[in-house]
Formats: sequence, structure tokens, C-alpha cells
Amino acid sequence: MKTVVITGSARGFGLAMLRFFKEKNFNVVVCDVSEEDLVKAKNELESIKGKGKVLAFLCDVTKESDVKNVITKTIDELKTIDIWINNAGVNQPNEAIWNLDTKVIDRLIDIDLKGTIICSKEIIPIMQKQGFGAIYNVEGHGSNDAKILGLSLYGTAKRGVTYFTESLGFEIDKLNLPILVGKITPGIMITHFISNSVDNKTIELDAKTKNIYNILGDYPETIAEFMVNKIVNNTKNNVKFTWLTNRRAFMRFLTASFKKRNFFE
Ligand SMILES: NC(=O)c1ccc[n+]([C@@H]2O[C@H](COP(=O)([O-])OP(=O)(O)OC[C@H]3O[C@@H](n4cnc5c(N)ncnc54)[C@H](O)[C@@H]3O)[C@@H](O)[C@H]2O)c1
Repeated sequence: MKTVVITGSARGFGLAMLRFFKEKNFNVVVCDVSEEDLVKAKNELESIKGKGKVLAFLCDVTKESDVKNVITKTIDELKTIDIWINNAGVNQPNEAIWNLDTKVIDRLIDIDLKGTIICSKEIIPIMQKQGFGAIYNVEGHGSNDAKILGLSLYGTAKRGVTYFTESLGFEIDKLNLPILVGKITPGIMITHFISNSVDNKTIELDAKTKNIYNILGDYPETIAEFMVNKIVNNTKNNVKFTWLTNRRAFMRFLTASFKKRNFFE
């Protein structure tokens, strides 16, 4: 039976992906910094039909010891880690760079960028030893070089994730390692993330932003189902799975006037 580990998976997109993996008979490993959400997620995943086991770990991706603990205990119990998804991520306060506290800058870069690097660094030797494995990193605003006022720090981190993922795929190719690397580009998801920042403050969404989210956004389950199908069928290194393609975005704007959606009522 195959095993998937997803970081930051006690809610939102990570948890939504684990649900689909569980239905596909994977062993699923939920890990997160939120103990309360972790317990709820474990219980929920256990109630989903599927032959795999459910493991849950408190894990802050910025702490190497937490990441090592997830890997060691998962291998002890389930023998292999087939897929690792670096999903843990936080949003920034809606402020220009010079208005951000340096502690906020440190924490966001540590989670959104360094966390992905630390987890990848720790899991690669394990996958090399197993002779197989796949790592997927979740992109976000900034990955495609777009700029929005108040999202420059987050965009910097996600642009870094994109470069890092491409470099990782390149190095794995050069060294002929038996590992696949890929980018997951989810678009806009209606989750806790969009209205809460790394410093635990509420992000007020203005009417224009809500309108865009209503047109282009989706609940994480919709995107998770699409991504999990792509991931389980993937056999290539250096892939990119995109939900909100230019074509999908164009169609959403085209049909927006008669397909009214409101996530914020
Ligand atoms: N929501 C969106 O519109 C959107 C769009 C593009 C990309 N993303 C990315 O998708 C990923 C998932 O976001 P989401 O929308 O599900 O958000 P979410 O806030 O619902 O979930 C994020 C999870 O990460 C966990 N987390 C935070 N810090 C952590 C840490 N240090 N270690 C481990 N876990 C930690 C949180 O506790 C939470 O469970 C993130 O990488 C985010 O940047 C989100």
C-alpha cells in the first residue's frame, strides 16, 4: 500500500487532498502545527472508506527535528513514503513590504519557503534509499511573477518555491535519482488562508477582491480532486499541474454574469 505525507494538512487544501488519497486506498499522514485541527482531521480521515492507515503528527515545517520525527515514525510504521507534498503555507498581512514587522517576514519566509526546502532535503535521501518517491510543492501568487500590492512578501516566498522546485527537478535529473518532482498550482481556494495572516490577524477583503474570488475561486475539494488524480497518474519528473489555466479563467469571466457564485454570504 502506498503512503502519502502532506505538510500543513489538518485543514484546507492539504486535508482535502488527503481525503481523496484515503479514498484511493493510500496510507495518509496528516501533519500540522495546529493540535486541535490535527485531532479533528485524524478522526475525519479515519471515518473515510479506504484500506490505508491514518497517522497524525504535530509538525512545524520550520523545525528540522519535527520533520525528521514525521519521516522516522512513518517509515517505522508504514515502511515507505511514496509521495511527499509540501503544502504548509501562510498568508501575509495586506501591507506594503516596508510596513511589515521583521518577525512577520522571518516567520513567513521560514514556513512558505524554508519549510519546503527543509522537508525536501530530509525526504530525498529516504526516497533515494527506497529507490522511488515523488515530491510536489504547492505554488501560489508570485510563482508566475505577477504582482499585487500587499502580497510582495508572500509572492517572493512562492517565487522562491517555484525556482527551488525547478532546480530540485534539474538536480535530480542530472544525478539520475529515482525521484519525481512537481509543482502544484491551485489558483484561488476559499480557505482560512485567504482571510488570515501569519501574525494571526484578519485580512479584510474588499468588494473588488471578493468579486474576483467569486469568479475565479473554488472550494479546496474541487481542486484537490483534480490534483490527486494528476499526482497518482504521474510518471514524469519536472511536471506542473495547473487548475486555474488561462482558458479556465477566461471561461469564468465569460460566464460570470449568468453563473453567479458567492462564497462570502
Ligand atoms: N487559498 C488560496 O487561495 C491559495 C492559493 C494558492 C496557493 N495556496 C497555497 O496552498 C497551501 C495550502 O493553503 P490553504 O489555502 O489550504 O490554507 P489553510 O490556512 O487552510 O491551511 C494551511 C495549513 O498549514 C498549516 N501550517 C501553518 N504553518 C505551519 C507550519 N509552520 N508547519 C506546518 N503546518 C503549518 C496550518 O495550520 C494549516 O492547517 C499553502 O501553501 C498556500 O500558500 C493557497
